Amino acid sequence: MRILHISDTHIGVGSAFNSEAFEHVFKEVKDGVYDLVIHSGDITQGGRTQEFKKAREILSCTETPCIMLPGNHDARSGGLFLFEKYIGPLNGVREVGDAVIIYVNSAFEDSDQGRVGMVKFNMMRDALNKYGEKPIKILAIHHHIIPIPMAGRERNVLYNAGDILELILKEDLDLVLSGHRHYPNIYQIENTVFINAGTASATKTRYGDINSYNVIEIKDKERKVKTLRIDGKVQQYSFAKRKRRIFSDFGKREFRAIQVANTLISDSRPFLKRNFTNAMATIEELKPDLLVHCGGIVREGIAGDYDYALSLLSEFDFPILYTPAGRDINYLGYYLFPTYFGLIDQRFSNETILFQGISSAQYDSQEGIVGPSQRKALLEKLQSPEDIKAVFLHHNVLPIPHSREKGLLEDSGDLLRDLANARVDLILTGTSSHPFAAQVEDSIVVNANSLSSIYQRSVFGNSFNIIDIYEGAIAVFEVNSLWGRQRLLGIWERNKNTDHS
Ligand SMILES: [Fe+2]
Ligand SMILES: [Fe+2]
Repeated sequence: MRILHISDTHIGVGSAFNSEAFEHVFKEVKDGVYDLVIHSGDITQGGRTQEFKKAREILSCTETPCIMLPGNHDARSGGLFLFEKYIGPLNGVREVGDAVIIYVNSAFEDSDQGRVGMVKFNMMRDALNKYGEKPIKILAIHHHIIPIPMAGRERNVLYNAGDILELILKEDLDLVLSGHRHYPNIYQIENTVFINAGTASATKTRYGDINSYNVIEIKDKERKVKTLRIDGKVQQYSFAKRKRRIFSDFGKREFRAIQVANTLISDSRPFLKRNFTNAMATIEELKPDLLVHCGGIVREGIAGDYDYALSLLSEFDFPILYTPAGRDINYLGYYLFPTYFGLIDQRFSNETILFQGISSAQYDSQEGIVGPSQRKALLEKLQSPEDIKAVFLHHNVLPIPHSREKGLLEDSGDLLRDLANARVDLILTGTSSHPFAAQVEDSIVVNANSLSSIYQRSVFGNSFNIIDIYEGAIAVFEVNSLWGRQRLLGIWERNKNTDHS
């Protein structure tokens, strides 16, 4: 099966629209041999009648089945009404050969943010249920679900990206096609290939890039993606569908790390002392080699909270690494954090394992940023000989289910791409108080719930994660703070022949 994936044509009059690039892509739609054409939204620049009339030409120039999605620009000026009039339904399910394509409108009036409301979310879920046996399952949605590199600040995101990501992974989709950020990017997450198209014909390209589109070929278990720039340059990627396997022998356990977040220690109600005490007793019994605290140590950056936190955390004989959340450095926290808990970018290493912390926190803000200088310095710090490398920070790099995604880490797209390219084994985060784990390329991303605060979102209750590193696999378990009940978040094979150089 061959799919032509175009996006963000931004058809209009004026300087936002590159008509030359459009003609190039239009010719490909007209003359190329494909089983399916998908336009993943921002068809028009302003959602106006003339723009939609021109956009209709795409549909009428080819016999190939063509799915066109609305984007945030199409929803401007009441454009969704015109979209339905000139282009077609905003949402739907289409079968083409062996594939089922579920396309969902994520745009709404006069907003650049995206949202998939409950009705549409249920439609997606029901369609995936109904077509679960189809050999190829594809979701098309305008807004990106995973942060995109080289696209500037992470914003205009999909509010419920975490829930959608969870559904995609649970239903084992083959492809997710998106646009919106005007920069092409591809990730394999678990078994699903997330393909973001660049812009086909908007003048707003990024980092000096030019217009592009994607060609996708699916054959048996192999998914090939080509990104074609309109100057003829081609980048090619290939993803094999991973075999599902039951691990029976992980080999010897080499290391046990415990990951916690948002303890929110204070003498006030949000801190659940009993949960903290029970969890720390369980952690002691688990005999960890290391505890990693992904931020939110104290409720506020004030001396009383820090005094209390230190008295509770200083009695353990395993090493503990800390990284701050915004609340840890508020008020006097910028001074108290290093005084009580040590340097901001903490590090642990033995012969085989490295844990490297980075600070993403900012004063008086829930938003975080790593920044280009720190990202560069981090990549240099990761140039060391250990076999397993883990990076930990407070802010999330993947959207977290059951929380509103706000793009809180401003450069999450660049950081995730850097760490995936560096084939970092583990990326540990601690925001949004919900546990979540998924493998992006070769990097396992694990988010921790709140250990001991009333502000948590998991029906499993407050919890922490065990990260067990075996010779052959990495296993992540969630453990309930109060009762010690465990459940598996995932097991992944260890990276083979990892070359970090
Ligand atoms: Fe766009
Ligand atoms: Fe967009």
